[in-house]
Amino acid sequence: MTTWKPATTAVHVSAPSLSNSRPISVPIYQASNFAFDDPDALAEALERPDGAFAYSRYANPTTRALENKLAELEGGVAAVATASGMGAINSVLLASLRAGDHVIAQQCLYGGTFATFKDLAERFGIEVTYVPGDDPAEVAAAVRPNTRLLYLETIANPLTTVIDLPAFLAAGKEKGLLTVVDNTFATPLLCRPIDHGADVVLHSATKFLGGHSDVTAGALVFADEQRYRQVWQHTMELGACIDPFAAWLLIRGIQTLPLRMRQHCANAAVIASRLAAHPAVAEVHWPGNHAVAQRLLPHGFGGVVSFDLAGGREAGHTLGKSVRLIKLAGSLGGVESTIMHPASTSHRQLDADALRAAGIGEGTVRLSVGIEDVEDIWADLTQAL
Ligand SMILES: Cc1ncc(COP(=O)(O)O)c(C=O)c1O
Repeated sequence: MTTWKPATTAVHVSAPSLSNSRPISVPIYQASNFAFDDPDALAEALERPDGAFAYSRYANPTTRALENKLAELEGGVAAVATASGMGAINSVLLASLRAGDHVIAQQCLYGGTFATFKDLAERFGIEVTYVPGDDPAEVAAAVRPNTRLLYLETIANPLTTVIDLPAFLAAGKEKGLLTVVDNTFATPLLCRPIDHGADVVLHSATKFLGGHSDVTAGALVFADEQRYRQVWQHTMELGACIDPFAAWLLIRGIQTLPLRMRQHCANAAVIASRLAAHPAVAEVHWPGNHAVAQRLLPHGFGGVVSFDLAGGREAGHTLGKSVRLIKLAGSLGGVESTIMHPASTSHRQLDADALRAAGIGEGTVRLSVGIEDVEDIWADLTQAL
């Protein structure tokens, strides 16, 4: 055995190799770089997503364990984990669109996605036609010779709108469009868009997949191998890769996803029905109230309930200040209940008309119902209302 000088010994470390046992949990391979014995093997590993591990922006063993789990859960052939939901959205859009292309998207969408589409239009001339989502014929009516992509959300943020996803996907396929579905609010436990014909499914894994408000991450899952390789290449070039520790947190979070989703759905159903009978509430937005969602989501309607306060902007502002157990917070999907009043927080610069154009009322509140005892959630809501 060579004896190295202390400055050399301090630098080099080898992971223990295990022969007769293996860890039950996936280890965190907090490594950016992997050493090879053979230059040809290194060259080959740098060419493709699924060979040996060479560099963690391309692929990493912990990340790969997460990606395999996500692909299995969503019924896809492969997945790419990303640094955030926005990383996933921008990777798939930039990998799939060229300057001058046209996109059809549903009107009710996450605000960050709107911002990305606005940016793509201004800088690359990629125009977007927004359709209400009431009738799949809207797709054929909006299609142009340069339309490339149809972008949808299973349960849309913030109003929890559910469109007839299989019919919209079929309409998109009929026109030869690439179909992309943001499945963040539903998770694969409630809906698997690939089963309904989607080409690409994406997530803000920061929300329900992670589930503990402690990790920022995203994911893309693919129905076919070719699209996977193309988008992987682009994600790798963008540098939108996930960190191994974040991937590990997600693997850990996903282990309890079925239990958490069951409780989110059960609690949200109770809160939605009680809110509907509360005098301070003008309208409740919850997928369970609609026939389309009842068909699409047989296992539950998710953990998000939005509602319009009769007292408008002032009432929403007061509610945000008055909750004690429920946290006033911008994100959602954690085990703890969180609430957000867009008109006094994220959208406070908008007047009533601009809010309406964004599909939000002055008194609209988005509640992410956690997995606490539902009576405690309700008691906090009623004292605040
Ligand atoms: C439906 C939806 N998609 C995407 C995103 C963006 O995800 P991230 O914040 O992880 O980048 C969000 C974030 O709120 C979201 O709600």
